[in-house]
Amino acid sequence: MRHLIFASKNKGKIFEVSKILGKQDFDIVSLLGIDLPDIIESGSTFEENAKIKAETVFNNLEIPTIADDSGLVVEQLDGRPGVYSARYSGEGATDKENNEKLLLELRNFPGKHKAKYVCVAVYYDGKNYFSAYGEIHGEIIKEGKGNNGFGYDPLFVPDGYKKTMAQLTIEEKNKISHRAIAFNELKKLIK
Ligand code: IMP
Repeated sequence: MRHLIFASKNKGKIFEVSKILGKQDFDIVSLLGIDLPDIIESGSTFEENAKIKAETVFNNLEIPTIADDSGLVVEQLDGRPGVYSARYSGEGATDKENNEKLLLELRNFPGKHKAKYVCVAVYYDGKNYFSAYGEIHGEIIKEGKGNNGFGYDPLFVPDGYKKTMAQLTIEEKNKISHRAIAFNELKKLIK
């Protein structure tokens, strides 16, 4: 059994990652309820930010740490919101506010709004550092549908699907998501 900290307070992510890694091999504790100063995501790439999260938390708690940085990359918006996905409509923004801003930004673009979700998952234990990458392609639709998932899921329809990510069950999302791809790869690296 591996004891790991998952450097996140995002309940959606925590739920997904605990299911991806599984209870059998990993005992995962998130940052919910742990009193640490806010981590400043000052990197300009997903990997830099994931590394900052894992190193900061390891340096404070000295327990092997996994972290991810993820986001939505929209073609017609030149890759935005990208690393700013969580704070697209401002610091402390809610998912609803971010989704509204996305639809506003896209309203003048005709045609299909091609997008991808990207995730970099990392592990750091003071000595070893591993990282793994996952992405999933899809499109942004004009109106939110579904109540599962989090973030931009009500607006994101994966390629080959007729439902949004928020209409898929956690099991369905975890078969295809950027986060599942990245953490399944990371799992192999740290085992
Ligand atoms: P992070 O916590 O700094 O990695 O920011 C991740 C942000 O990207 C989230 O707050 C969402 O806005 C967006 N995001 C990343 N992964 C997903 C996903 O699986 N579904 C929906 N939104 C996501």
